[in-house]
Amino acid sequence: MPEELSRRGFIKRSAGAALAAGPVVLPALGANNTLNVGWVGTGSRGNYVMNMMYESVPQLVHVTAVCDTYQGHMNRAKDRVQTVEGAAPKTYVDYRELLQQPGIDIVFITTPEHLHHEMALAALSAGKHIYLEKPLAHTIEEGWDIMKAAEKSGKVVQVGTQNRSNSLYIMAKELVAQGLIGDIHYTRAYWYRNSLSNAPAWRYAIPPDASEQNTDWKRFLGPAAKRPFDKNRYYQWRLYWDYSGGISTDLLVHQTDITNFVCGKTVPLSCMASGGVYRWVDANDDREVPDTLSALYEYPDKFHINYSCYFGNDHFGYGEDFLGNEGTIQVLNRQILHFYPESFRGKPPANIAARKEIHLEIPNNDNTAVQAHVKNFVLAVLGKAKAIAPASVGQEAAIGGHLATLSYRNNKKVFWEEKTKNYRTS
Ligand SMILES: NC(=O)c1ccc[n+]([C@@H]2O[C@H](COP(=O)([O-])OP(=O)(O)OC[C@H]3O[C@@H](n4cnc5c(N)ncnc54)[C@H](O)[C@@H]3O)[C@@H](O)[C@H]2O)c1
Repeated sequence: MPEELSRRGFIKRSAGAALAAGPVVLPALGANNTLNVGWVGTGSRGNYVMNMMYESVPQLVHVTAVCDTYQGHMNRAKDRVQTVEGAAPKTYVDYRELLQQPGIDIVFITTPEHLHHEMALAALSAGKHIYLEKPLAHTIEEGWDIMKAAEKSGKVVQVGTQNRSNSLYIMAKELVAQGLIGDIHYTRAYWYRNSLSNAPAWRYAIPPDASEQNTDWKRFLGPAAKRPFDKNRYYQWRLYWDYSGGISTDLLVHQTDITNFVCGKTVPLSCMASGGVYRWVDANDDREVPDTLSALYEYPDKFHINYSCYFGNDHFGYGEDFLGNEGTIQVLNRQILHFYPESFRGKPPANIAARKEIHLEIPNNDNTAVQAHVKNFVLAVLGKAKAIAPASVGQEAAIGGHLATLSYRNNKKVFWEEKTKNYRTS
């Protein structure tokens, strides 16, 4: 391979990919090409993705309905739409009513994990295209249901694994495919975070006005076990198994997903995970999910992921190291890419010695990726692109996450059975 030439090509294409994520300039589209949007879940992610959508494809979308079970978030979204579009959307507490509003083409579902299943199925059966935040679903079985419904409906489903639209991961995939790092059998992935003792991990601020009167607790619970109103569970749902898989499905799925994407993998053969609540152990903290998790994956064709996550030190940040026998590609914090050729103790073969290191940084690249991801979804709905993160790849990534949860909670290695499309613990 002509390394120097191809390296320049990668950089050029990367810059192109980054630019491609900017505001869309399309040939004049008629009113019929504006998609009516319904938005379900306008919390932290919903608010952010809506802003990214307005940055990316403002002329292609018109938000006509928003739904949230906490009045404060719903009002914020309604005001945002009014400010950007000059017209207020209709508001709903019950997403099923939103789905009945005539004229809605696409629905963004940015609600907690345990609600994805029922909301995605209802939206697909109402004939909507959906942008569904990761993880695809709360269990493997629910994920299959969504996948089948998506295939049957013929509608576009874009799962919110935006790293697939990130120019640096797209470049990493090209570099791996071109053989720049040789054979690759091993990926090291990690996500480290830290915070001060008065801001425990995932104990996000609860809105001061939140009460049982302006928070629809029953609709939040949905299919989960009934319990009395509990603000912590509502606003900090990631910490409880009924609504979340914790690190496995909140963070790790991004990294199984992008390893699948970069290295051409799908579903692992097995997973062995361990960890616990080591850092956030205050006696009043009733969190259930671990703050410390390691997971080892075996994949077909001799491929391994070594995953580690800890919420008590963020020195190493967030990233993936793709380790080839001729070089390493490292993507850090979604905005830095490094390539290092192997040095073979100072005596590399000539073809490897000729490979120059690559060091790139694209500030705010995750925002750009989310904009590109939303744009890809909208263009797919308009028939001008193919969705880059359909339900099937969302399910493949989520299976990795669910296997880690199952292994951790059962304290056993779990195996994936491709024949039965299910896991076993022995
Ligand atoms: N792709 C990413 O990088 C990324 C980042 C963060 C979050 N997420 C995903 O986004 C989703 C939402 O996470 P978040 O951080 O915004 O949580 P959040 O708690 O901030 O927001 C969830 C919102 O859903 C609302 N809600 C709860 N039950 C509802 C119901 N029955 N009907 C309508 N609205 C309801 C809540 O009131 C809240 O406003 C999760 O799936 C999460 O994993 C993805």
